Amino acid sequence: MPVTSDLGDPNLPGARIEVRSGHPLEGRIVVPGAKNSVLKLMAASLLCDGTTRLTNVPRIVDVDIMGDLLAHMGMRIERPRPDEVELTNTGAIVPEAPIHLAERIRASVNVLGPLLGRYGQVTLAMPGGDDFGSRPIDMHLAGLTAMGADFRFVDGELIATAERLHGAHVVFDYPSVGATENIVCAAVTAHGETVIDGAAREPEVVDLCRFLVAMGADIDGVGTAVLRVNGVGRDALRPVSHHTVSDRIQAATYIASVAVAGGRLEILDARAHDMDMFLRRCRDMGLVIDEGEADLEGRHVSTLTVTASARLRAVDVQTLPYPGVATDYKPLIVTMLSVADGVGVVTENLYPGRFRYVEELQRLGADVTTNGHHAVVRGRPRLVGTEVCAHDIRAGAAMVVAGLAADGVTTITGVHHIDRGYDDLTGRLASVGAHIVRCSP
Ligand code: EPU
Repeated sequence: MPVTSDLGDPNLPGARIEVRSGHPLEGRIVVPGAKNSVLKLMAASLLCDGTTRLTNVPRIVDVDIMGDLLAHMGMRIERPRPDEVELTNTGAIVPEAPIHLAERIRASVNVLGPLLGRYGQVTLAMPGGDDFGSRPIDMHLAGLTAMGADFRFVDGELIATAERLHGAHVVFDYPSVGATENIVCAAVTAHGETVIDGAAREPEVVDLCRFLVAMGADIDGVGTAVLRVNGVGRDALRPVSHHTVSDRIQAATYIASVAVAGGRLEILDARAHDMDMFLRRCRDMGLVIDEGEADLEGRHVSTLTVTASARLRAVDVQTLPYPGVATDYKPLIVTMLSVADGVGVVTENLYPGRFRYVEELQRLGADVTTNGHHAVVRGRPRLVGTEVCAHDIRAGAAMVVAGLAADGVTTITGVHHIDRGYDDLTGRLASVGAHIVRCSP
């Protein structure tokens, strides 16, 4: 039975989305909170006793999984509103992340820093997440080892112990998002000063640091590549209420949607500064993007008004850590280039295996060839609808966008991947005129 909302049957692997193209988009879309922030905020709530309240929480499956993981450890998880989570730590924490929960999300590794820092021990089944190549955690372990932690692998589980972590000088030769977050979370309750050189600067890392500072942590250099953290003691942090930063990747998905479908969209709570390099490439492709402000339920938010009135122009793009063009935008960019005028080369610098969705785009008639970590995209005026599969969260969203650029009907299977990271993608696009329905199995 077709439904226009993504929220009816989030866990059904047989669900599919059908998109019909040819309808320009017109209207307003509000961007929800960021998956890659809220999951880390939830994990960091282990750092204090009492009730942490998170608002602007996206309604996505990964939030439910992180909630289940924390509940398994002894936290009380409540949802007073669909976009809020309250996490209560009564002090009775069992620091164990079992395989059936940890393997479902990469962010399960984010419990490591808070648990080691505060409780001195963790048993963690190795984290899962998307299937685009090996995703090691050696940098997390090296940083925590420098702070005094001890690690053993037993039957696929990581067992970590630390009497009391101490400050250290941690140097990253690559700005890993997850490793930066884990070291910061471990350092806020460690003894002495920790300096992280080569830290990640993503907006979601900044959101986590601001959350920790509000809880009473002492962090200097937030948003820069050098973070200085002075430990405040294991029981010094207090619970706070925090508004999750908006999701730049979901915002980019709506920009890509109007880019290929044509029309004009006002995208509320899209923060231009957080997606500057992506917006530059979009403007190079011919999109007109105006930055503004609006009131949203009593909050002052940034807006982007995107007008797409002509065929896109091809550009070359490479993915880089923030402030570069994020790897998570890439499936959207390759999709836009599939219908742009000219040839664009997209270079992936983070995940060599992240080109699996290219086969699906080819099924829609896209002219894309890959060579190592490069994709060469020769734009065609239109794609042709058929059945394609979402292999991961971002690839799935790109298939929906491709459907907006494909003649006829595009059917997307593997929708449960999209549900992990997108808050009602179908409903939001339908509300601005896309002909899109979600069908139960
Ligand atoms: N890396 C290592 N060793 C480590 C850590 C990372 O070699 O110890 C490598 C990874 O294998 C990868 C690169 O460094 O090649 C980047 O990894 P990073 O640690 O920065 O990424 P992450 O924390 O695992 C987060 C997001 C990803 C996003 C990346 C990059 C979450 C839950 N995931 O992953 O988001 O692509 O940062 O921005 O925050 C998604 O949302 O769909 C997604 C995959």
